[in-house]
Amino acid sequence: MPLTISPSKGLQGTITVPGDKSISHRAAIFAALADGTSRLTDWLPAGDCMATIEALRALGVTIDVEHTSETAATVTVQGVGLHGLSVPEKRLNCHGSGTTMRLLTGLLAGQPFSTVLDGHEGLRRRPMERVARPLRQMGATVVTRDGYPPIYVDGGNLHGIEYQMPIPSGQVKSAILLAGLYADSPTTVRQPGPARDHTEVLLRSLGVPIETDGTTIIVQPAEKSLPPLDISIPADFSSAAFPLVAAVLIPNSELRITGVNTNPTRTGLFDVLTAMGANVQIENQTDMAGEPVGDLVAKSSTLRGTEVSGDTVVRMIDEFPILAVAATQAKGRTVVRDAAELRVKESDRIKATVDELRKLGAQMIAHPDGFEVYGPTPLHAAVVDSYGDHRLAMALAVAGLLADGEMTIRNARVIADSYPGFVSMLKNLGVTVVA
Ligand code: S3P
Repeated sequence: MPLTISPSKGLQGTITVPGDKSISHRAAIFAALADGTSRLTDWLPAGDCMATIEALRALGVTIDVEHTSETAATVTVQGVGLHGLSVPEKRLNCHGSGTTMRLLTGLLAGQPFSTVLDGHEGLRRRPMERVARPLRQMGATVVTRDGYPPIYVDGGNLHGIEYQMPIPSGQVKSAILLAGLYADSPTTVRQPGPARDHTEVLLRSLGVPIETDGTTIIVQPAEKSLPPLDISIPADFSSAAFPLVAAVLIPNSELRITGVNTNPTRTGLFDVLTAMGANVQIENQTDMAGEPVGDLVAKSSTLRGTEVSGDTVVRMIDEFPILAVAATQAKGRTVVRDAAELRVKESDRIKATVDELRKLGAQMIAHPDGFEVYGPTPLHAAVVDSYGDHRLAMALAVAGLLADGEMTIRNARVIADSYPGFVSMLKNLGVTVVA
């Protein structure tokens, strides 16, 4: 499905964006493991999170998903308890969701039965030894196909380990912590950078003993049952990133995005935009489901180039396609380093972002672990491709708002993997867009 989008003369108003994808996955998993009925409101009914629901159902969990709007659902989960999952009849289909596959591999490593996890072609190209290795050390049998899906897991009888993660990853950390609930002794994970900590936040709120100083995380085996959850999911910073950057780049814009999760492990892009001179603020800060939330306010700004490396990369790992669009409009050089992980996301995000933005006239160079952008450059309308990557598709749509004519983005259906309602949000802001 192609998406055509026309230039915008300014984005004004107040919007909401859908619930956080990472928290939606985790909340569904912990609700399944709880004793009793959980209620999750403003849950994200996107393709990736629905893959987690489908897999949990296949493991014997009764889950009702009631859409309350195009972008939100109320999910009711009849928890089966920590030891109540049942053997699935067939392979678990994780569709295109890396989070589903990696988190559930950790959970299944703790179960006394065997399972196979698989997914579609795009997911089958993503590396899985990063979760298999520590889970094997804990005592599970985990077999990948030369490092890639499908994954065979035969779980149970786990031991606590001390594990130094070679790369900072919220998914790998969460897989180990989920398995750690089923181990016979404490599990320690050391992370080389501040990977998102939503699993830790939720475990703490469920009363599981978990200690962390930000670098070392120690989880105790779950001795007590988990209580049911009754939470609202805060809006996803990674989805807010698209209208946020659009408002910064398009003249005559002033946009407020309400109730967005501002967990510092997620807001690296906000800090980078500020360093580039963007007029962006966080207002009305409060707490929701143990997470900080606030309104993001963005006004049209003049940007300068910057450097992004180290821990900041981890704190904005999903925001590089949209940062690249911002950098095309910034004066001078923007350089991204230490971001080789981008090569193994939904697409090779370094190659795909550079190739597609160059078609619009961007001055960009790819590096093994990042890219360089020289700006500002006017963007020319062209036909571009999402490479099956939802975040690249939305970044290209924002580029289309700045271009000199109507842009076409091929394979844009994938946007629904993380942001159902993206097109409606743009239409409500007066953008001419046809999907
Ligand atoms: C996620 C972690 C990140 C991120 C992904 C969601 C999560 O992946 O890119 O979109 O929910 O834990 P990595 O753990 O591979 O960095």
